Amino acid sequence: MTKVLIVANFKSKKNLAEQKVWIDEFLKNSSNLKNVESKDVIICPSFPYLFSFNSAFSGTNIKIGAQTLSPFDEGSHTGEVNAKQIKDFADFVIVGHSEERNLLNESDELFSEKVKLAIKYLLTPIFCVQDKGTFIPEGTSIVAYEPVFAIGTGTPDTPESADAIAGTLKSNKKDLKVLYGGSVTSQNVKSFTTKTNIDGVLVGGASLDPDEFIQIIQNA
Ligand code: PGA
Repeated sequence: MTKVLIVANFKSKKNLAEQKVWIDEFLKNSSNLKNVESKDVIICPSFPYLFSFNSAFSGTNIKIGAQTLSPFDEGSHTGEVNAKQIKDFADFVIVGHSEERNLLNESDELFSEKVKLAIKYLLTPIFCVQDKGTFIPEGTSIVAYEPVFAIGTGTPDTPESADAIAGTLKSNKKDLKVLYGGSVTSQNVKSFTTKTNIDGVLVGGASLDPDEFIQIIQNA
C-alpha cells in the first residue's frame, strides 16, 4: 500500500523559541495518533532549525526536509546552502515554490540544477508546480501541485480539479507522486487525499499550529 505523504512547510516563520514550543507540543500530543503506519510525515523548517528538528525527531517516523537549496555544489558561494550540507540534517527538499519563484525569478535551468544536486546527494526533491504546464526537471519523483490562488488564501482548489491536474501530470510521467498544496486544513484534507491521483498534501499555514497539524495527519 502506498502511504499518504503529508508535508509541513513552515516557510520563513517561527524563531528558535517558537520552534521549540512547536516540537514539544507536537511530541506531547501526537502519541495518540492512529493509523500513522499508513502516513509519511515530513517537516520543513527554515535552514537554522534543521539541526534541532533532525535531533528532536531522530528515531521516529517523522522525516525532515529543507525549503530550498543552492543551485551550486559546494564551493566559494557565499551565502548559499548546498545539497551536501542539507543532507546532514534532511532527506527531502522543496524546490520551485511559487513564493520563491516570485521573489527570485529563477529559471527552469536553475531548477534543473537544484534537482540534479539534490539527487546527487540523496535528497528527494519535492518540486512545486503551479499548473499542469509547469516545467518539471528530469529526475523529479514527487511534485506538489500548488495553484497560486490557493496559497495562504483560505480558498483551496476543488478536490476534483486538483485530481484532474494530478492525473494529467501522472500521465506524462510514470510513477510520479503528486501532492496537493494550497489552504489545506484538517477539515478539507481528506477530500484531497481520497482522490485517485493525489498521493498527499503540502501544508503551509495550517502546519504552524502543532495540534492542527496532528489533526491533519489524523484525518489525511
Ligand atoms: P498554505 O501554503 O497551506 O498556507 O496555503 C501552502 C504552501 O505554500 O506550500
